[in-house]
Amino acid sequence: MAVSTTIEAAINQQINYEITAAYNYLAMAAWFERDNLPGFAGWMMIQRSEELDHAMRLYKFLMDRHGKLDLGALGKPRHDYKNVEEIFVAAQQQEVNNTRAIHNLYELAINEKDWATQSFLKWFIDEQVEEEKVMSEALGLIHHAGDNHSALLMLDQRLGTRSAK
Ligand SMILES: [Fe+2]
Ligand SMILES: [Fe+2]
Repeated sequence: MAVSTTIEAAINQQINYEITAAYNYLAMAAWFERDNLPGFAGWMMIQRSEELDHAMRLYKFLMDRHGKLDLGALGKPRHDYKNVEEIFVAAQQQEVNNTRAIHNLYELAINEKDWATQSFLKWFIDEQVEEEKVMSEALGLIHHAGDNHSALLMLDQRLGTRSAK
């Protein structure tokens, strides 16, 4: 059964959110590279590729349901971060916003009685729990490090060990 135009538009919007998130994480990775924090940079690059994977999952679902792709414009990412903490606060907020977007999409699928979309979105609902947890953990460690440079460098090494899923 083909996807409704309402769900089609919402999935296209969600694809935009996921690619926007990847775009923002790329800008954050570059900030860390310039600040000589390769561990943080690598961590953000993994985050970036996960977001692109989310976009591709949505794309595939849209194609499988005979939906039409309608890609929107991407906003310019922010580059002028003050410090590591400010970046992770922004990253965490982005994940919270994305969780809300996924939940809204799920609610729409319920209202539209689109069972296939509801089933498909369950993976995303679970994934957002993980995404928010990962961001909160990183932010917690950054708070512990505070203004201590050695602690921050140790954290850079620790985050640098993250491997792609
Ligand atoms: Fe995502
Ligand atoms: Fe995410």
